[in-house]
Amino acid sequence: MNPQLGEKLLYLSRADVAAVGLTMSEIIAALELMFREKGEGRVEMPPKIGIHTMPDAFIHAMPAAIAGKNASGMKWVGGFPDNSKRGLPYITGLLILNDFETGVPIALMDCIWITAQRTGAATAVAAKYLARADSASVGILGCGVQGRSNLEALTATFALKRVFAYDTHGDRAAAYGQEMQKKFGIEAVVVSDPKEAVIQSDIVVTAGPILRKPHATIQRGWLAEGAFASLVDFDSYWHPEALKECDKFTTDDVPQLHHYRDIGYFQNIPPIHADLGELATRRKPGRESRQERTIACNLGLALDDMAVAPLIYEKAKDKGIGTWLRL
Ligand SMILES: NC(=O)c1ccc[n+]([C@@H]2O[C@H](COP(=O)([O-])OP(=O)(O)OC[C@H]3O[C@@H](n4cnc5c(N)ncnc54)[C@H](O)[C@@H]3O)[C@@H](O)[C@H]2O)c1
Repeated sequence: MNPQLGEKLLYLSRADVAAVGLTMSEIIAALELMFREKGEGRVEMPPKIGIHTMPDAFIHAMPAAIAGKNASGMKWVGGFPDNSKRGLPYITGLLILNDFETGVPIALMDCIWITAQRTGAATAVAAKYLARADSASVGILGCGVQGRSNLEALTATFALKRVFAYDTHGDRAAAYGQEMQKKFGIEAVVVSDPKEAVIQSDIVVTAGPILRKPHATIQRGWLAEGAFASLVDFDSYWHPEALKECDKFTTDDVPQLHHYRDIGYFQNIPPIHADLGELATRRKPGRESRQERTIACNLGLALDDMAVAPLIYEKAKDKGIGTWLRL
């Protein structure tokens, strides 16, 4: 038994979490394992509940447990669209880890890094089942935190040659292009028209703002035959007719998608082919031909965080990172 159990918890600051050095490949593997557990029904995740203090903003409670990993806890995460005007991140929050057998809190950590990395990793897990294995180009629409972590996860999964970068702020796309080229050694093409980032890409990631009423920029005929798209910003970027063109529309959790639909999102999407647990356990097929157009709309699950946080906690203890606080 952990001698600190019930006496102290490990506090990990934003810098501590990053300093632990968990790799994207480790995160992708942890998420894939978790989605298999989910597919087998061995997880617990009640729907998100939340409070809403400002327009289009949320603070959500995200509890989850993964029996096979002895993982349990909750993320308390805020998303505030206007934070950037104050120099603050859009996403902020904390994550509590609980001991699986006693419920005692064992760790408290900043959740910005986990949220960024696990969301990119979820795209990569979906892409493994839904994208062509020889995918070489990625279109990123929205060159922020998610634009970065999604590309990082995709470079860990595919032999990418090129990224097409689009952002409504051209300077952000330009800085992103330079950074990604240097970091991953791939060619970065900065484009000023979103269509150019979609039509030429084997994989498309949309990561702009989430809106109840989609801005529906991406039109029918843009997503290439054989391409895969990851909708990190829900259906906000896509015209319903463009979504209808896909052969397989998937998500990470169907009840959660229905919940969002009930509160006004996802009013015009295609039928759901599978969730990611069904793909990871092969209960439902992923891509079946080179021609198919496939889409994953991963909403972001408490389970994603719970798949990753225990790894950070264990590595932090091994490396002596963090501050022990008395309970
Ligand atoms: N599905 C999930 O699991 C999940 C998890 C975390 C965040 N998100 C969502 O991902 C999105 C991006 O989050 P982030 O943390 O990267 O935000 P961010 O603020 O770091 O980046 C967003 C970028 O999008 C750009 N942008 C705004 N409107 C655009 C448009 N129409 N087209 C192209 N670019 C546009 C902004 O200039 C900015 O560079 C948000 O909508 C967030 O809610 C989803």
